[in-house]
Parts: sequence; C-alpha cells; structure tokens
Amino acid sequence: MRTLGSGPDYSPVFLVYGDFGYDNAQSLPRIQAEVNAGGIDAILHVGDLAYDIFEDDGRKGDNFMNMIQNVSTKIPYMTLPGNHEYSQNFSDYRNRFSMPGANQGIFYSIDIGSVHFIMFSTEVYFFTDFGKEQIQTQYQWLEEDLKKATTPEALSERPWIITMGHRPMYCSTTDQDDCDHKTSIIRTGISDLHLYPLEKLFYNYGVDMFISAHEHNYERMWPIYDYKVLNGSYDAPYTNPKGPVHIVTGSAGCRERHDAFGPKPDWVALTSSDYGYTRMTVHSKTQISFEQISDDQNGKIVDSFTLIKEKAGYY
Ligand SMILES: [Fe+2]
Repeated sequence: MRTLGSGPDYSPVFLVYGDFGYDNAQSLPRIQAEVNAGGIDAILHVGDLAYDIFEDDGRKGDNFMNMIQNVSTKIPYMTLPGNHEYSQNFSDYRNRFSMPGANQGIFYSIDIGSVHFIMFSTEVYFFTDFGKEQIQTQYQWLEEDLKKATTPEALSERPWIITMGHRPMYCSTTDQDDCDHKTSIIRTGISDLHLYPLEKLFYNYGVDMFISAHEHNYERMWPIYDYKVLNGSYDAPYTNPKGPVHIVTGSAGCRERHDAFGPKPDWVALTSSDYGYTRMTVHSKTQISFEQISDDQNGKIVDSFTLIKEKAGYY
C-alpha cells in the first residue's frame, strides 16, 4: 500500500467519482491503469457502489470489493454512503468500508496536504425511517468540524475545504431527483422551516467545493449560491470565486446507465454524458485543477478547469 504524503506542500492527485457498480463498471480498466501507473494518491468514491451491496445475500458487495481490490490494495479507497447503500440502516456499507472517525464512514473529515476534506451522508435527509435525529447529529458535527477547519491557524495550513456528499444541490438532469427541485432538501433543508440547510452552512464557512454524484453524468456549475452565479470575474470565473463550486461526477459506470440532461440553465458551465471520472490535482495552497476523463473517448479530457484562491478563508 502506497502511503499518503503529509504537510501542506504535498501535492496529491485523486480520482473522484460516484455511481460505480459491479455491473457495467465501464471505467474500471482505465482507473486500474491510472493507479498501476503510480500517479494517483487516493480514490474518493462519492457514494453508490456495487449496486446493491446487500443483493444475493451480500455477494454483490463481495463481488464489488473483489473487483476494486486491484486498486484498493494499492492506494486508499475512501467512500461515503449513497442511496444504494441504504440496506439495514447502511450497516452493510458500514461494516465493509472502514473509514476514519467515530461514525463508521457515514460522516468524517480528513486532512490531506493543504485540503480539509469533509465526507458526509446526504442520505440521512431521505432515509428518515432510520431516525430523523441523524440529520441533526450530522449537521451539528458538520458545523463543529467547519469551525475547527476555519480557525486562522487551520486555514494557514489547509486553506482548501472540499465537501463531498452523494446527492447534488444543483443539476440539470431531468429525472425528478432532489437536485431538480428549486428547493432541494439537501440545499435548503427539511420541512417548511427549512431546517439543517447545507448550502447556507457551507457558504457561511467559505467552503470551496461541493462534489457530488447520484446523477449518472458529469456537470460543472459556475460558482454559485442560492441560484446566483458568483464568478470571480468575467474572464476568470474560477479565480477567487465568491461562492462554492459544485461539480456532479456520477458517470463511472453502473447498471442504471446514464441520466439525460434537460435544457442547460445559465448557472451550468458544462455537461458531459460520457462514462468517466474526475482527476483532481492539488497543486498548492492556491491552485487545484480538475479534469474530466471520458472513458467513451479513450481517456480524452472533456473538461478541465483550475480553481485559484489567492487568499485563504471566506470569499
Ligand atoms: Fe444515487
């Protein structure tokens, strides 16, 4: 197992994707090749794995884990729960993937180089039969974690705060998922009182990115808050943006195939329906670049952008 580097000058490269199942795992050979070539430090799987982990008395989960073994024995394979991991209150998931923190992989944060990653469950907002209190528990933890991550000392070491959860706040897919609704639960909170709204929380703490999946495609938004585009400037939208940047990367390959896009809203920068995954390179405390790799087009980079932030902390 390759070990991660440390310190704020470490410049790691990650593969990031969601919705990667045992059947139709189209991106697998390319992901394996990238990891075997030695240039990738860790994989971040943004929920929905195996499809479904509990099926066939858990053999589907076993098959998936055998399938990813070629990469997960070489570099860290970090996960968070998606809706397909719901079985037994996510215990099939929790007992297979050993993640940091006290919450068995449901929510946790990790520091890697100059990035503070926050991985959490969007699913607590939807699988409320397992206990509504999970929403509050996680929200309070998120706020505490963000407080610690945004002290002047923490920000001088790790200016980047990247959040990841399975379901998007914004998408232009037309399948009536939460992100299709202007008052998405993830974004604006639950009930008429809009309790535990995540967009406001992340905005208030100057979060740089929210990376999600769930929609089986790739989509990059302009920096945004409450449907208002907050580009850094006209010529350089991702240089010193005035709000978080959202991407959806749920097209690694699964048995449910693709989700179709509707008309492109003005807050969307680019969409891609190809199977593939995202490569994220943390260059420094001020620069992170993203590339969308198309498996359908033999590894062609179908999107790339660089997020630049010259001053740590709030927008
Ligand atoms: Fe999903």
